[in-house]
Amino acid sequence: MNVLDRLETTLRVRGGYALSGSVQTHGAKNAALPIMAAALLSKTPVTLHRIPRITDVSVMWQLLESLGARLRTEGPGTVTIDASGVSTHRAPYTLVRKLAASFDLAGPLLGRFGAAEVPLPGGCVLGTRATDLHEQAFRALGADVSNAHGYLIAKTSGARLHGSDIEFRQPSVGATKNALLASVLAAGTTTLRNVAMEPEVVDLANFLNAMGAKVAGHGGDTIVIEGVAELHGVEYEIIPDRIVTGTLLLAACATRGDVTVERCAPAHLAVTMAKLAECGAKVTSGKDWLRVEADRITGGTDILTAPHPGFPTDLQPPMLGFLCTAPGTSVVEETIFNARFSYVNELARMGADVRVAIDNNTALIKGGTPLSGAPVEAPDIRAGAALVVAGLAAQGETEIIGLEYVDRGYERLEEMLSALGGQVQRASGVLPVDEPLGTFETTAYPKVV
Ligand code: UD1
Repeated sequence: MNVLDRLETTLRVRGGYALSGSVQTHGAKNAALPIMAAALLSKTPVTLHRIPRITDVSVMWQLLESLGARLRTEGPGTVTIDASGVSTHRAPYTLVRKLAASFDLAGPLLGRFGAAEVPLPGGCVLGTRATDLHEQAFRALGADVSNAHGYLIAKTSGARLHGSDIEFRQPSVGATKNALLASVLAAGTTTLRNVAMEPEVVDLANFLNAMGAKVAGHGGDTIVIEGVAELHGVEYEIIPDRIVTGTLLLAACATRGDVTVERCAPAHLAVTMAKLAECGAKVTSGKDWLRVEADRITGGTDILTAPHPGFPTDLQPPMLGFLCTAPGTSVVEETIFNARFSYVNELARMGADVRVAIDNNTALIKGGTPLSGAPVEAPDIRAGAALVVAGLAAQGETEIIGLEYVDRGYERLEEMLSALGGQVQRASGVLPVDEPLGTFETTAYPKVV
């Protein structure tokens, strides 16, 4: 291989075919990662079901192993984590730099050992990753917090963290998770105000309660935690992934298809489905399925990303991919991240008419002009999903370089789309292995030259 070539994984999409049929979604990445981190709080083994086979999970697996935990796969999507042997509270930078969610380790390490050393996330391709709200929570719980040599270092001066009343200036998914994770073993009562209400935060709280924690109010804007002395092992199933579900239904809309996603949680996608209905799609749902019939898309819509229950920032890119195909003008405003429109330049290479305002937070889409297949590059997970959605609608062939980003959050997206009649093929690079999830072994697919 030429030294200038990195091991790129590509997806080839032949567009213009309406997706139709049924497919199941998988477990939620953003619930699975903090719940795996939370297993550190129990000295007896935890068994988790519906863990997605994605590379972000492999990184978290390796991180937990590097701390001394023992993990094993019990069957497809089932993982047992035994954290009894964990003896260090310092997470290694080499693995952490691959996964923003590894900052979720700070809370459980601090809660269990009274000390945590975790590399600071710095920035990522989506924008700045601040940690002041995490630090605010750790300090209020009685830890001394400092930054040194690229690490956040938090330590209790007493034997145990203590309960506190914490009001966040804005809802943060990451800070809410870390505050919860640190406070479940603290002495006394903790009240968290103005917290994130995302379903993945609720799932984490439900998991902690199943382990013996006393958490109440999750899903609302105030969470109250009665600290307990210890937590125990449990068997728990992760919630369905609402972003994967949404992406599949947006692909249905972009191709004017008719798709049902099974084993999903319709309530988690209420705002997104209302927006699709506004564009002319017929949306129906049952207890655990959502169907979108999109043969009559009549127009676009305006989107403002916001903390849950608002429109999710992680669906902004695939939504924009769909809106390029909808007649009329749409406006998409991003309020969570300050650099989440870089992929728009790739959509422009497919003929999309999208202008991003100078503040980098608003995009104006003139939809309905036919897209044409082109070679494009995915800069991150959800941007990759946007290119897949657009590619499925475009005339001709789109080759998406950077499928390895998509593999971080979607369990073999090409297989889900093929099951719906999409003409998609993993064309080169690697196919993530099935089991065990923690090995980074990959299979050259079909052949890397
Ligand atoms: C965010 C998204 C989440 C998404 C994830 C991955 C929201 C509210 N959060 O979660 O839905 O799944 O990215 O794409 O939609 N902030 C601070 N100080 C802090 C922490 C955060 O100022 O200490 C700010 C951030 O800069 C951001 C906002 O708060 O503007 C929300 O960030 P946060 O929810 O913490 O980010 P993630 O947990 O990464």
